[in-house]
Amino acid sequence: MSAILTRCSIALRESKEIKGQKFFCLASAALAAAFSVFAGTALAQSVEQGEAVFRKCAACHAIGEGAVNKVGPVLNGVVGRPAGTYEGYSYSAANKSSGLIWDEDTLRTYLQSPQAKVPGTKMSFAGLQKSSDIESVILYLKQFDASGHKM
Ligand code: HEC
Repeated sequence: MSAILTRCSIALRESKEIKGQKFFCLASAALAAAFSVFAGTALAQSVEQGEAVFRKCAACHAIGEGAVNKVGPVLNGVVGRPAGTYEGYSYSAANKSSGLIWDEDTLRTYLQSPQAKVPGTKMSFAGLQKSSDIESVILYLKQFDASGHKM
């Protein structure tokens, strides 16, 4: 796409109007602009959607600056964190000894069914059915670093 645009801008600058090339150039520039707007919107919606999904988690989990452990551990910086390691939280043996790292793939299967992924966990949450909800909530979680600042 960028190669086309470079060629086009040269063509337009030198006003080499070879049969419809100007139109083609303008059309592809418009397409590129539309696509980037569309991609931006899709991302924003997912993070927003993730914030809405997180309301289900917020009954038990806090996230962000000043978050404290509740029924469940603080989720700041959880993406990439080894299971059972948030300071001051009393985990189940099942979670602590799971040996899992909460990378995106592990979170995908866990959030679909916590009990299936970690039998004996004390996270009493049935799981998220829709994969779009799972993807969005992961995007939402990923925003927060270990100290709860948005990255
Ligand atoms: C009913 C309360 C409850 C809800 C709702 C809940 N959780 Fe949990 N969650 C827990 C508890 C309790 C634990 C600790 C599990 C253990 O020690 O076995 C936990 C653990 C976790 C862990 C592992 C953290 C670690 O440090 O090892 C992740 C990740 C997690 N929850 C994410 C979520 C997300 C995302 C949602 C919403 C989609 C959610 N939870 C909804 C109670 C809940």
